[in-house]
Amino acid sequence: MNDTFLKACRGETVDFTPVWLMRQAGRYLPEYQKVRGKITFLELCKTPELAAEVTLQPIDILGVDAAILFSDILIPLEAMGRKLDFFEKQGPVFASPVRSTEEVDKLIIPDPDETMGFVMDTIRLLRRELANRVPLIGFSGAPFTLATYLIEGGSSRFFFETKKMMFTAPALYNRLLDKITECNTLYLKAQAAAGAQALQIFDSWAGVLAPVDFQRFALPSVQKIIRELRKVTDVPIIYFANNGATLLKLCMTSGADVLGLDWRIDIGDAAEITGGGFSLQGNLDPCALLLPEKEMRARVEKILAGGRKARGHVCNLGHGILPQTPPEQAKIFVDAVHELSRG
Ligand code: CP3
Repeated sequence: MNDTFLKACRGETVDFTPVWLMRQAGRYLPEYQKVRGKITFLELCKTPELAAEVTLQPIDILGVDAAILFSDILIPLEAMGRKLDFFEKQGPVFASPVRSTEEVDKLIIPDPDETMGFVMDTIRLLRRELANRVPLIGFSGAPFTLATYLIEGGSSRFFFETKKMMFTAPALYNRLLDKITECNTLYLKAQAAAGAQALQIFDSWAGVLAPVDFQRFALPSVQKIIRELRKVTDVPIIYFANNGATLLKLCMTSGADVLGLDWRIDIGDAAEITGGGFSLQGNLDPCALLLPEKEMRARVEKILAGGRKARGHVCNLGHGILPQTPPEQAKIFVDAVHELSRG
């Protein structure tokens, strides 16, 4: 079994640096487009056979060292009782935002196996189909990032409504966050029980917060989820706070085994800051996949050299691969990581 990814997460000795790409199953792959052409994105997430099929595509096509469950961080919010739509070009939309005590109180804490059984079915199916070829990563959003979608009603630029709630109605904000935290704790526990071999928590919007606000309004919920997970599972936990270079020291208190880095920080510098207690994941700018091969390989060399200063290194992009990326370029990246790290 290729368990190099799990070893790197735990800081054990590896023969090469493992690599996977955030959003590796997606629109940049014609094979994905073909499946997606027949069905909406949400239907795809809810059809285990097809979700498993697109999860496996990048394993075969790119040769990455981990599979990540095909789903979305917003699925549990739908299970909490909010109607979710994805519109072409607009992204996710919650028709009515959650901004009042009444709306927060209406949210339910769903039983993940009952309401999101399709996710656990996909995980079980994938574990069978992968047959230990590479490990399977499960995931959720971090409570703050998820709260922004509910409060704003979709994607946002300034997060005005979210920050307004934090600053003018902190008790309401906390009540909302507590509910999301409880829901996602149960959800991640269920994923581990179904067979997920690592768990990643995506805090995509963490970087819009001042460090004091991150510490007060976002980090405690992540710490709580990880504390609860530790009671029932020892799978490696990855915490990715996007745009979080200035939050790195705070992220070290999250309880995660692995800290995900975006491309705005030098990974060698991050290794010096975090010291010997963490593995690091990252961190090529997704747009740098467009570089000519020679220059891309030079970037990979530099990232690998920085990663060697950390306890362990899982190579990845600094955020999700963009739909416009030629798959051949992604393959050049994956091959370069393998070749150059074998030394
Ligand atoms: O990494 C993977 O390959 C697994 C699948 C995955 C998706 N979304 C599939 C997806 C994962 C891990 C996510 C996480 C996710 N979803 C995040 C956190 C990661 C990040 O990028 O910061 C966020 C913020 C979301 C919410 C979301 N989902 C948005 C904002 C959008 C629309 C923007 C876009 O890229 O279209 C989605 C849709 C989405 N999620 C798609 C995919 C493949 C595109 C849907 C399609 O096929 O049309």
